[in-house]
Amino acid sequence: MRFDILSLFPSLFVSVFSESIVKRARKNGLVDVRVHNIRAYAHDKHHVTDDMPYGGGGGMVMKAEPIVLALEDVLGGPLPESLAVVDAPVVALMTPGGQVFDQGMAREFEQAGHLVLVCGRYEGVDERVSTLGVTREVSIGDYVLSGGEIPAMVVVEAVSRLVPGVLGDMRAVLEDSHSSGLLEHPQYTRPAEFRGLRVPDVLLSGDHARIARWRRERALERTAQRRPDMLDNASLSRVDRRFLSESRLLETGEDDEQ
Ligand code: 6GU
Repeated sequence: MRFDILSLFPSLFVSVFSESIVKRARKNGLVDVRVHNIRAYAHDKHHVTDDMPYGGGGGMVMKAEPIVLALEDVLGGPLPESLAVVDAPVVALMTPGGQVFDQGMAREFEQAGHLVLVCGRYEGVDERVSTLGVTREVSIGDYVLSGGEIPAMVVVEAVSRLVPGVLGDMRAVLEDSHSSGLLEHPQYTRPAEFRGLRVPDVLLSGDHARIARWRRERALERTAQRRPDMLDNASLSRVDRRFLSESRLLETGEDDEQ
């Protein structure tokens, strides 16, 4: 999996990509992350990358030319033609006005094999960058950040975890929140009692079928209580549905026994 990140603040990425999952994935040659400084593509004397908005108003807008030149360098050809080929990379502009990133989008990006992330600043990027060279506009949620750098880190981490071999134990991916479509069940480790709080007996029982059932029910319960919207897309068995309706956690309109 290859990532190219275009940013005005490349040093922000150094420590994040030098630790943990992404570090190991890079060391094992499973992901290749390159950060490019947009300023290096501003060829005027002062390397200017932003300017006042046409039409007035506050803030500054990122100029089109440095970003387009950086994209052409990374893609190895002139825009927009270099994106009109089969197997062209996904070029994502990180902007609060984009489509909200989720696990499904992470899977799509992983499938593409090559993701270019353009980090905009909050005030905006000249629209012609999107017209010429962007295939997706992506946000990480409904709040305001001053730039697309932290969102780009979020995307790199979420996509890297999906690259085969990056996580040692593939079961962890399958069982992760949002892959199963449910939130995770609670977890405990030693000691069996901490400050008067005991680990649920079933987890100490060694009865794997009962443990699996308990975990599934706690996951269903949590999802129904905290993220009921996720139940609409989760794949639920008849047993799951019966549990939810008997626990009065699911509004089905049917199956109401009392
Ligand atoms: Cl991608 N950029 C900025 N500036 N703010 C955000 C965002 C992106 N996603 C959520 N908030």
